Amino acid sequence: MSDVRTPTALPTTTIGPADEPATVGAIGYGAMSIAGTYGAIADADVTAVLDASIEAGANLIDTANVYGDGRSEQLLGRYLAGRRDDVVLASKVGIVNGGGIGKRGIRGDRAYIHEQIDLSLGRLGTDHLDLYYQHRVDPNIPIEETVGALAELVTAGKIRRIGLSEATGDELRRAHAVHPIAAIQSEWSIVSRDIETYVVPTAAELGVTVVAFSPLSRGLFTDSFGPEDVHLGGTRANFPRFQPEHLGANLELAAHFRSLAHRLGTTSEALAIAWVHDRAEQLGARVVSIPGTRSVAHLHANFEALQLELSDETRAEIDGYAARVSGPRASDPNWVSGGREGLI
Ligand SMILES: NC(=O)c1ccc[n+]([C@@H]2O[C@H](COP(=O)([O-])OP(=O)(O)OC[C@H]3O[C@@H](n4cnc5c(N)ncnc54)[C@H](OP(=O)(O)O)[C@@H]3O)[C@@H](O)[C@H]2O)c1
Repeated sequence: MSDVRTPTALPTTTIGPADEPATVGAIGYGAMSIAGTYGAIADADVTAVLDASIEAGANLIDTANVYGDGRSEQLLGRYLAGRRDDVVLASKVGIVNGGGIGKRGIRGDRAYIHEQIDLSLGRLGTDHLDLYYQHRVDPNIPIEETVGALAELVTAGKIRRIGLSEATGDELRRAHAVHPIAAIQSEWSIVSRDIETYVVPTAAELGVTVVAFSPLSRGLFTDSFGPEDVHLGGTRANFPRFQPEHLGANLELAAHFRSLAHRLGTTSEALAIAWVHDRAEQLGARVVSIPGTRSVAHLHANFEALQLELSDETRAEIDGYAARVSGPRASDPNWVSGGREGLI
């Protein structure tokens, strides 16, 4: 059976559980890209890409206090003035910058959370967030304590929903017992699949929406990625899969994937994102993918994903990619859920 294209509008899903779940496009916008993480972006392009995103229904905007040391939130605040209600706005707290990736700190204590929410709200020019994540689980603070502090922000009306990022399945369950968790955000792509073992089944059981970050594996699985892109913005090169000992093999894998996508009459980016949505459906989980881009053309190419249906043959072929990728998804295994679960 060949893969079928059916033209559809961007479908919606919900971020819950909550008394009033937020309705969001099944693809959201990863606003780390507007902070220049993977290359510079002009202010006019920030406006263009956010306009195009919202117009298409990709209304979940994902940022964090650390993206560009607050720059992503500041740009969003400027953009959203007068149109705050057009988006479902999510930010994060918990990563403390300094010393490079893997050397960054984590804080999940109550005082820090109460301090940072006010700074984020100030930069974003709003009185509330629709979703606020613990960006990383603090190894020195029980997750119950951190979620307790986030729950205080819900009571205060500063945030509507609580999310976790890179929490293990067990941490998600413990957190959910303190206060309903609306979303769990983790890396999920054709080559980063450790969350399928514990995190996704737990999310599916508890009714927590999975938010898939880096669904394109930081641009690797797109039609246009090349070795010259590795150092754009300075961040990607910190990840093992883009370092010299792994890069060659991974570029080769990306070229194979490109051939597969083209054989199916689509692009790498559409197929990679389509796979995340297809896999979530197979596992019974609600998912929103949040690719990041500085380009309206790329944004539209990514939306093509939701017009694809994968055949069993395609699924079987893509299944092999996770075993073929060279290098782990993080330099410090403790930085991500799969490392603490003994999976990577
Ligand atoms: N919770 C966490 O710890 C965490 C960690 C990482 C990311 N995130 C969130 O997830 C979002 C997405 O992750 P990500 O940005 O790391 O990875 P990604 O979405 O997998 O990849 C982004 C990269 O892909 C490129 N790209 C996107 N669409 C493309 C297309 N159609 N054709 C060619 N290139 C394309 C972008 O370049 P161009 O700009 O040139 O399009 C950018 O360099 C972030 O913005 C952030 O909000 C969260």
